[in-house]
Amino acid sequence: MNAAIRAVVRTAIFHGLEVTGVRRGYDGLIDGDFISMGPDSVSDIIQRGGTILKTSRSEQFRTKEGMLEAKLKANEAAIEGLILIGGDGTFRGADEFSEISGIHSIGIPGTIDNDLFGTDYTIGYDTALNTIIEAVDKIRDTATSHQRLFFVEVMGRDAGFIALNSGIAAGAEEILIPEEKANIDNVITRIEAGRKRNKSSFIVIVAEGDIPGGAYEIARQVKERYSYFETRITIIGHMQRGGSPTAFDRILASRFGVAAVEGLIKGRKNEMVGLINNQLVFTPFLKTKKNLVDINQGLLDIAHMLGS
Ligand code: F6P
Repeated sequence: MNAAIRAVVRTAIFHGLEVTGVRRGYDGLIDGDFISMGPDSVSDIIQRGGTILKTSRSEQFRTKEGMLEAKLKANEAAIEGLILIGGDGTFRGADEFSEISGIHSIGIPGTIDNDLFGTDYTIGYDTALNTIIEAVDKIRDTATSHQRLFFVEVMGRDAGFIALNSGIAAGAEEILIPEEKANIDNVITRIEAGRKRNKSSFIVIVAEGDIPGGAYEIARQVKERYSYFETRITIIGHMQRGGSPTAFDRILASRFGVAAVEGLIKGRKNEMVGLINNQLVFTPFLKTKKNLVDINQGLLDIAHMLGS
């Protein structure tokens, strides 16, 4: 997100605009927690994870009173347009706010889940994938040396993109995602088939939103019926949401930041900038609703074939 903030500030200043940073997301908009931003205010941040402006999941902004307060504060600060980094919830809020306040927005897709319609990639996803595969590579050393079965839980409350792609990249033997109900018998059959071929380690990547549950639940169900291997569970957790961004994420965020500002200048409103087939495109906020993106069946087939 910092790379996007840097790009927004510098592009806006390049085009002669004044930039106000809103701290703590929509909560900060309601509280008038603003900061004037010059080109130097975004020096030395492109390599840092998180966001220097901080963020929030604002309950207040979901209410009419909250939005009216935000409108008041935005008017006082002479804010004429907003650039937001977030997901579909952020964009839904911006749509309503635009109706109430007349202030238009452009959204930049930022979520490690990569589940937004209107873009092939969201900021943070590539960094999260790389963090996960580094962790799984390390876990693999113990799994192989001790001949153990590991269940590794990754994020993805509603979507399995992180699990599927990190699983392929880490060479996981099995990948369980929310989009497919886990079949424990199939998991056991695959592990047993590998054992017969003298495979020495097994990594099962489980998305946290998996049905019937995350890594602990899946491990419990497998152990109930299959006890050949000693098992261990690792939850990667918020490690995968932070850290220095990859080159891919920095470039993506920079492109999004520039396009968002230039889009706003050209009069675009209430749209999310995205990247599809390496082209920058804009999609109306209302269309970016979560879960409109299907898991790529071809990738699922690859995962099943290569992980056997
Ligand atoms: O919404 C994105 C996400 O990364 C989910 O995959 C994950 O469940 C959630 O954020 C974690 O959010 P929090 O930090 O609020 O627990």
